[in-house]
Amino acid sequence: MYLLGADFLILCNDSFEILENGGIYFDNKKILKIDKYNELEKAYDIKEKKYYKDCVITPAFANLHTHFEFSKNKGELNFGGFDKWLDSVIINRDSLMDSALEDCMQRDIKNMLKSGISCVGAISSYGYDLEILEQSQIRVLYFNEVIGSKEEALPFLEQSLNARIEDSIGYKSDRFCAGVAIHSPYSVHPKLLQSALNIAKLENLPLSVHFLESRQERMWLDSGNGYFLDFFKRFFDSVCEPFYSADSFLDSLNGFSPYFTHALFASDLELKKISKINGKIISCPKSNRLLNNKLLSLKKCDEIGIDVIFATDGRSSNDDISILDELRVALYAYNDYDLEYLAKKLLLGVTNYALKNNPFGIKAGILEAGYVSDFAVFKLKAKEQIPLKLILYAKEVEALYINGTKVDYE
Ligand code: BEZ
Ligand code: FE2
Repeated sequence: MYLLGADFLILCNDSFEILENGGIYFDNKKILKIDKYNELEKAYDIKEKKYYKDCVITPAFANLHTHFEFSKNKGELNFGGFDKWLDSVIINRDSLMDSALEDCMQRDIKNMLKSGISCVGAISSYGYDLEILEQSQIRVLYFNEVIGSKEEALPFLEQSLNARIEDSIGYKSDRFCAGVAIHSPYSVHPKLLQSALNIAKLENLPLSVHFLESRQERMWLDSGNGYFLDFFKRFFDSVCEPFYSADSFLDSLNGFSPYFTHALFASDLELKKISKINGKIISCPKSNRLLNNKLLSLKKCDEIGIDVIFATDGRSSNDDISILDELRVALYAYNDYDLEYLAKKLLLGVTNYALKNNPFGIKAGILEAGYVSDFAVFKLKAKEQIPLKLILYAKEVEALYINGTKVDYE
């Protein structure tokens, strides 16, 4: 049994308690008791203990939406409009997947650990990131992505999806869980959607989907016009119509409790439907600024009862994949929210909210007895406004523990 302590523990429970001179008594699986450090020290027979002075401990963070396979992007892709960006993705995606990719993905796993993340939601387009993630120390929700609008390609795409799912299912553990990512309503043919949903249901796999990220997608789903009409002509030599309305797409996902990423242009009714089908919303504020110049309304989500999860997205639409940097930018960007209230919501969005009812089936995201021994330790000398100052000043962890073991990420 082990004991860790620090000047402050941010428990990230629903009532957002902060414990001064707090201690965590734990084993390699789970937290056994949270109390004052001195009390735990007196009460238990302890194998190893450490008190982190001038430090704060939080539950380790989750970054539930990222794309490791785009880790090589540093200037190849264009920002400032979803249309400019998607064009540049289609033109450059093959060249971003060359032999240097492996080193970049390795570097980014290390960067994630350094920013306090113990759990990632990896959207995998090709399966190039499977082994590297499976062999890493980080917990992985591995979403095998399906994309394809052309009917001729469907048999190949279905086969590829099934093969990738089969490969990743084989790694199932409390650290690795396979899932399915539906790329988006504009890019996945209904037959492909159906076969992806069939396998997700059969194998009981979690689902992730990009949903209403852009004005262009909104217009395409609503009216079959605008950027996407031209996009399909230019890149796919096809005249198409939208496969779904936003509403019918949501209906088809009923029963799966999916993670919806972005939902920037979702109406109130669509947000309510997401809540009704037990969906979760992941917001990536830096990516949303760079591609669509819009932020998700936290107020609206709050009113509807959706607890927003925060993530970085991939380097395809972000200059960096540090979750600390993401939260710091969000703190500045959401300028009509009380600073201290927002800091709490942002921390909950990468802990409690992100890991509630997670597909691993583990209790995570809160410092509480029975929850996993995943902790992030940060240097911070403050005595007041701890959540706010943590987000402002923390650039990387002092230490990270996963399953009760200190992670050596060097
Ligand atoms: C496709 O592969 O069919 C596709 C890719 C990106 C956007 C839309 C469709
Ligand atoms: Fe994404």
